[in-house]
Amino acid sequence: MSAISIATAAEVFDLLKDDLAAIEIEFAHQAESPVGVVTDIANYLIAGGGKRIRPLLLLLSAKALNSESDARIRLGAVVEMLHTATLVHDDIIDEANTRRGQPSSNTNWGNAKCVLAGDWLYMQAFQTALAERNFRILDLLISLTQQMVEGELLQMEKLGHLINEEEYFDLIYRKTACLFKVSMQLGAVIANPAIRDGERPFETTLGEYGRNLGLAFQIVDDVLDLTANDDVLGKPAASDLREGKATLAVIHALERGTGADREAIRTVLADRSFARVAHADILEILQRHGSLAYAMDTACAYAEAARQSLSDLPESEFKRALLWVPSFVTTRDR
Ligand code: IPE
Ligand code: IPE
Ligand code: MG
Ligand code: MG
Repeated sequence: MSAISIATAAEVFDLLKDDLAAIEIEFAHQAESPVGVVTDIANYLIAGGGKRIRPLLLLLSAKALNSESDARIRLGAVVEMLHTATLVHDDIIDEANTRRGQPSSNTNWGNAKCVLAGDWLYMQAFQTALAERNFRILDLLISLTQQMVEGELLQMEKLGHLINEEEYFDLIYRKTACLFKVSMQLGAVIANPAIRDGERPFETTLGEYGRNLGLAFQIVDDVLDLTANDDVLGKPAASDLREGKATLAVIHALERGTGADREAIRTVLADRSFARVAHADILEILQRHGSLAYAMDTACAYAEAARQSLSDLPESEFKRALLWVPSFVTTRDR
């Protein structure tokens, strides 16, 4: 592969295709339970696809530090299993009926079975991670899971209310960026690079990359929720406002809008519906105040901060792929 330029998703996926295929096999293997319904739900979730961005990050992190340890496959499956478990629970909490362009698991199996299937997946992820016999790995995964659950709970407490930017960033760190950070950190933990005199450990700098990238990722997810349609997203669009969630562009407009603008946004958040104020009216308010552009600019600034976090990483095709991922995140349409 030529120097400076890993430019396309195809090139990055090509670089990792064998490992990503091995992770799919590992995930499918880990999804086997003696209780058929657990395996059915898990297989349905695996077949639904998804971008697999968290295992991709873990692989790039390990490989950028020259690790070819088998642990990368198991832990790549672990981060995707944890992600999948959070989606199962999130769709129950959000009462979402589609995910990845198909009925969500709660639509097919109902909430009760899916809560338990999500719990089972969490525990299976921990069991898989336990095979490494490494307390640092468990430490990272346990605090991650607590952060994610706290993030969802905090979000529920704030539903229908106006939140400020600080609260928004705390929320999106917990619910999304923390898993990106831990995926990068796990790559560094299994690579176990030598400590360099006077330099920060790669676990720290790669973790910062993951945190910045994850914040950019969730800001973009929240903008797409406002601007994209269901077919492209594969999940219900405009759902955040309907669920009473104020995201970055909306917070920006609330701080700058006229009294009438603020009232319109408050109405949708409190009603949790577009019955009295149309989605198009909200979009018009966001456009008029440059709020969508503000959110995208903020996402791009975090994407750039992610790239900067790699400054002392040795040059390699994996580093070049890591330098490419932030632009993928900020230009994606689903
Ligand atoms: C969805 O994550 C949940 C968020 C953190 C916004 P992804 O957008 O990575 O979902 P899949 O795995 O590609 O479906
Ligand atoms: C992602 O938040 C939270 C998770 C960590 C599952 P969202 O509620 O915005 O995710 P989507 O939009 O349903 O994928
Ligand atoms: Mg959701
Ligand atoms: Mg969303």
